[in-house]
Amino acid sequence: MNTDLSSFWMPFTPNRQFRAAPRMLVKASGMYYESDDGRRILDGSAGLWCVNAGHARTEIRDAVARQLETLDFAPTFNLGHPLPFELATRLRSHAPAGLEQVFFTNSGSEAADSALKIALAYHRLRGEPERNVLIGRERSYHGVGFGGMSVGGIPKNREAWQGSLLPHVAHLRDTHDLARNAFTRGVPAQGVEFADDLERLIREHGAKRIAGVIVEPIAGSTGVLVPPRGYLERLREICTRHGLLLIFDEVITGFGRTGDWFASQQFKVTPDLLTMAKGITNGAVPMGGVFVHRDIHAAFMNGPAADIDLYHGYTYSGHPVACAAALATLGIYEREGLPQRTAELAPYWEERAHSLRGLPGLIDIRNYGLIAAVEFAAEAGRSPTRAFEIFHSCFNRGLLTRLTGNVLAVSPPLTISRAEIDQLFTILAETIRATP
Ligand SMILES: Cc1ncc(COP(=O)(O)O)c(C=O)c1O
Repeated sequence: MNTDLSSFWMPFTPNRQFRAAPRMLVKASGMYYESDDGRRILDGSAGLWCVNAGHARTEIRDAVARQLETLDFAPTFNLGHPLPFELATRLRSHAPAGLEQVFFTNSGSEAADSALKIALAYHRLRGEPERNVLIGRERSYHGVGFGGMSVGGIPKNREAWQGSLLPHVAHLRDTHDLARNAFTRGVPAQGVEFADDLERLIREHGAKRIAGVIVEPIAGSTGVLVPPRGYLERLREICTRHGLLLIFDEVITGFGRTGDWFASQQFKVTPDLLTMAKGITNGAVPMGGVFVHRDIHAAFMNGPAADIDLYHGYTYSGHPVACAAALATLGIYEREGLPQRTAELAPYWEERAHSLRGLPGLIDIRNYGLIAAVEFAAEAGRSPTRAFEIFHSCFNRGLLTRLTGNVLAVSPPLTISRAEIDQLFTILAETIRATP
């Protein structure tokens, strides 16, 4: 491949190392990528958790092509075009009860920042501007905007910007507890009391100072942390009792990944705001959004009708091409019943994932819906880590996984077959065995 690699500054990548040994994907179809050296690679991570319906769906391609020919761009500030209205209505039909309004963004990061801004603005509108503390959780990821980065729980992602983050932020402890929950299938039995950490922060800051709490129902990017039984319910209960808004970041867990349209429905806990992105367009066109509960939205509708109700938005909020891709994507999810299909496949997936138990150096396997993760024992002084070596070796053997620290995560397109699930876990097991 003769591509000049010198100018693209790759995100979250050791760029010099990459340029020395590039790994390039050049094609994708169904469950497989093709690399520039002509190898087929099973997409065990749905790209970056976004290609839920599999690659190269013709319905999406055709909808995007038609849209580009019909209306390539139209502003949504003070003017409209039909697609975002149609899409919001369609999304609402799949959302948890009460989440009736949709604010569109272009990414998960923008969705997280928009949700935080709406939460802060809501309290100010209601006459409680002192509610300006935002609570996130350790080992969480909410993208890379200043808001999402500040509430996010990955120290490395904040390090270079210390001193310039949002000023009023606190973090709940995370729910990772291998001592009690290692090798749990699905929801861990122990740890509901981790939600009580919110009471600690409420005592510290004062309930009346806190605007809201943002969590991923299942933390994805930080290594797949499934919430302990009763944990999300308890968070909800504490938030409601103290007037805090609960925000679920469903950028990864949305659109079928857990066996429902949203994890909120799986766990039967409804947040006040819910962010989405990734699977909304099957990854084909950048898009994100925030579901807003009707009561929160109503608070913004009390001023003079001629006034702008929210001083926030993006040039591309409700972009016609993204909307067309999203509508076609939802059509696929609906017709193929992908959330239900995930729920049906989940027990088989779980069985296969946990069949890795006993492989050398594995200290945990966790799973939910069509997500699984294996965690490796840390080995002091080993660089690169064993997980890193396994990740690369999987890629060379034809399987794309996701690496975070000592954790390898898999989350394939929801269209995966049983045979492909077998293939995925076989390659993973062989690679782990072959990497002492
Ligand atoms: C839970 C969560 N929130 C937000 C984001 C950020 O999304 P984006 O990369 O589209 O900005 C991600 C990305 O992985 C995510 O997993």
